[in-house]
Amino acid sequence: MIKVGIITASDRGSRGEYDFLTGERVQEVLGKFFQEPLEYLQQVVPDEKDQLEMALLHMVDEEKCALVITAGGTGPAPRDVTPEATMAVCEKLLPGFGETMRRHGMQFVPTAFLSRQTAGIRHRSLIVNMPGNPRAVIQCMDAIGIGIVHTLVLLGHPKLTLSASAATPLPH
Ligand code: MTE
Repeated sequence: MIKVGIITASDRGSRGEYDFLTGERVQEVLGKFFQEPLEYLQQVVPDEKDQLEMALLHMVDEEKCALVITAGGTGPAPRDVTPEATMAVCEKLLPGFGETMRRHGMQFVPTAFLSRQTAGIRHRSLIVNMPGNPRAVIQCMDAIGIGIVHTLVLLGHPKLTLSASAATPLPH
């Protein structure tokens, strides 16, 4: 079974005050996109680059997650550092993921271009940044779900199947 790590970057969430449900929502969205059952691991981390890097390394190097989705911390605010942590741990960047998610997001939110979200590969794992808003996660998955499937195959993982509901956008 493919292991998926979900890291929520949130100062408030890491203190248990707010946003702790974001990871649950991401899990729900991914569960609708892929037909195969996935094994999920979740972590909420403050918006600190070193702690985000440690969480990414834990998910990839120790837990061997094939896919790691981060939620939040991609914007222009001083404490938004998720893309920096991602770039620090990746061996290869896949800038097309960020470009595609931003372009697609502009249909729904005129500020979608503010996200600095990116993606990359560490070892045999794919790391993808998404904005923290659960609706944004649905929109992003609509745009790059097929790219996740293809990249995981190229990295040597079993093929995931996109659900029929992924072809028609999910309710936003
Ligand atoms: N992309 C989509 N698809 N939907 C959204 O609602 N929100 C935007 C942008 N990208 C959004 C989106 C906004 S308002 C911001 S500030 C940035 O993502 C960064 O969000 P983050 O800091 O939660 O990662």
